Amino acid sequence: MNLPVKRSHWGNRWTFMLATAGSAIGLGNIWKLPYMIGVNGGSAFVLVFILCILLVGIPLMMTEILLGRRAQKNPYNGMQALAAEANVSRSWKYLGGMGMVTGLLILGFYSVIGGWVLSYIYYAAIGTFAGIEGPQSIANFNALLASPVTLLFWHTVFMLLTMGVVARGVNSGLEKANNILIPALFMILLVLLGYSLSEGDMHLAVQFMFNPDFGKITPAVVLTALGHAFFSLSLGMGAVMVYGSYLQRHISIARTTIYIAIADTMLGLLVGLAIYALVFANHLPAAAGPGLIFQTLPIAFGHMPGGHFIGTLFFMLVAFAAWSSSISLVEPAIAWIVENKAMKRTTAALLIGISVWLLGIAVLLSFNEWKEIKIISGLNIFETLDKLTSTILLPLGGLFMAIFAGYFMKKNHSQEELNLHRNGYDLWRFTNNIVAPIAIFAVFLYLFGVMK
Ligand code: PHE
Repeated sequence: MNLPVKRSHWGNRWTFMLATAGSAIGLGNIWKLPYMIGVNGGSAFVLVFILCILLVGIPLMMTEILLGRRAQKNPYNGMQALAAEANVSRSWKYLGGMGMVTGLLILGFYSVIGGWVLSYIYYAAIGTFAGIEGPQSIANFNALLASPVTLLFWHTVFMLLTMGVVARGVNSGLEKANNILIPALFMILLVLLGYSLSEGDMHLAVQFMFNPDFGKITPAVVLTALGHAFFSLSLGMGAVMVYGSYLQRHISIARTTIYIAIADTMLGLLVGLAIYALVFANHLPAAAGPGLIFQTLPIAFGHMPGGHFIGTLFFMLVAFAAWSSSISLVEPAIAWIVENKAMKRTTAALLIGISVWLLGIAVLLSFNEWKEIKIISGLNIFETLDKLTSTILLPLGGLFMAIFAGYFMKKNHSQEELNLHRNGYDLWRFTNNIVAPIAIFAVFLYLFGVMK
């Protein structure tokens, strides 16, 4: 295959790693994982989630990076080029197309939640959390949800931030910021964890999250955990593929993947521990749903020494993490437009930005005015988008990528990209070709009612 010579590449391996980690680490770890643990039976969910990361997430992340690096293009044209190279039907390009749409659907709600985070930077900064107790914190959050205008304002700011960076291209802003802000997020999390350890009920939190309770592992738990493994690692929609296409050839895909997966999973679990220690100490409901971190964390910041400053900084770092993820949600679609239509990056960003912004309005209304509007099986607009993307579209995208890389791509090509020793390669092939597809397929059978 002809590799285009003029394609910008990441400065070095760290930059790729931090950018991909920047995509992976986001609201999925800090906002979503903690509340899903509570809604899905605590330790049962955690156990299955970790297994999904190990058995499906890591191999498929390697797959997605290798496809991206080999294709050197956006997911749509990339899949087309890879199909040409493998001499199979060019219809594989629709897999890339599906990923681009999935990314935009996710961004539709991601931006609204990103807006919640931005508003919490503001509340933290003006001292709203000082001395706050559970009921007040819950009331504050509910007041935010009840106000479409406030939600719209912050959602708009978040979209502007995202599209602003996207319009300027991959190499300009992202690289440098990631270097400092991701490590900073880890640091501040340690402070939070320290507080939870001394003031919260860490014992109960550990028990809740890690005491295996096999009885609670239901097919629904497995479905949600698998979906979240995809969401958390940014898999199945081409984000990692696009970043992979900027990765230099000599860098080890396997090692990079493992570092990212460990950092991503650890971060989510640490946030979970910090939160549940507070939940139990303050007698708050563990199954509070999407508002969980917004209801619990202000209590910690409102009481710890220096909490005013630390709380503001914390929400700023979360906003940054969400920001670098949201950029990767739109990047595949933008790259496709720029590489195919005679359209400037800025115009493409504007067009996509407005469409997703409108979708976000429907989402934010589903927390108040349109709460009662149900789309499928009793789910409102936000819940429908979330379920549709995490439990169907991302795993489906991952399944097809695995099948393509495992059964259609020439073996020596995947070997060349992964550049692993025999055993390592065989292990990847086994998990990619057999374990991951069977796991995803089984979960789909359940989802569509074939299996109970
Ligand atoms: N992984 C991101 C997070 O955890 C979300 C995301 C999903 C980003 C899919 C890109 C693609 O917040």
